[in-house]
Amino acid sequence: LAWDFHLLHETDSTNARAMRLLEAGNPAPCLLLAESQSAGRGRRGRHWVSPFAENLYYSLALRLDGAAQPIEALSLTAGLALLKTLHETGLTRAGLKWPNDVLVDDRKIAGILLELSGDPSAVCHLVIGIGINVNRRVEAVGIDQPWTSLFLELGHLCDRTELAIRLSEHLRDYLQIHFAKGFSALREQWEAHHLWQGKSAVLISGAGQITGKVLGVDERGALRLQTAAGEQRFSAGELSLRLA
Ligand code: BTN
Repeated sequence: LAWDFHLLHETDSTNARAMRLLEAGNPAPCLLLAESQSAGRGRRGRHWVSPFAENLYYSLALRLDGAAQPIEALSLTAGLALLKTLHETGLTRAGLKWPNDVLVDDRKIAGILLELSGDPSAVCHLVIGIGINVNRRVEAVGIDQPWTSLFLELGHLCDRTELAIRLSEHLRDYLQIHFAKGFSALREQWEAHHLWQGKSAVLISGAGQITGKVLGVDERGALRLQTAAGEQRFSAGELSLRLA
């Protein structure tokens, strides 16, 4: 992998730092790893608890031409690369929950946060941020949902460097498929790993709640829900957009 690489003792957020590097003209792809984050970011404005040297805080920064390289559903594609990494580590029970959580028995073990800067249909900056609970074994203050770690599931410590290398290789391979053929080439594979496929679920949004049966995802990564009013599709809105 001929990627520019930065290993940091501490940073605010590897995603924020990666975006600053891109904006300062740093070569891309650029991979950032940190031992801890003081302001780790989760989806929907949440804080990502990031204790020192226990977990993986990983950001891959890309400079893309959105016109030629479809960004839609990219976070679902990243989820497949992440899941493959966990499966190879021995955690074969892990699965996906739309749009991009990785769960083991309803407990979260990893998450993905994509951040975009610029115009997604032109040349833009994209950061794929991944957090994996690796060797964490005790409850941290501030985690507001059931969680687990590789250590808790497998009963032994895991090498974070090896995980980062495998994750990078799988991301490279899956991104290549995504950019060459679109998410439609990966859709069936994604659904095969979707833990909530065929289940009834409640979708909660700012506008209210909708209950339905999970049919799967479409070629744009939107959730297909069979509701009383027929099939409805919902896009995740996982990209946080800023003016360039
Ligand atoms: C989620 O809410 O599920 C997404 C969590 C993403 C956390 C990772 S840790 C590395 C990268 N830097 C951040 O600030 N967030 C992501």
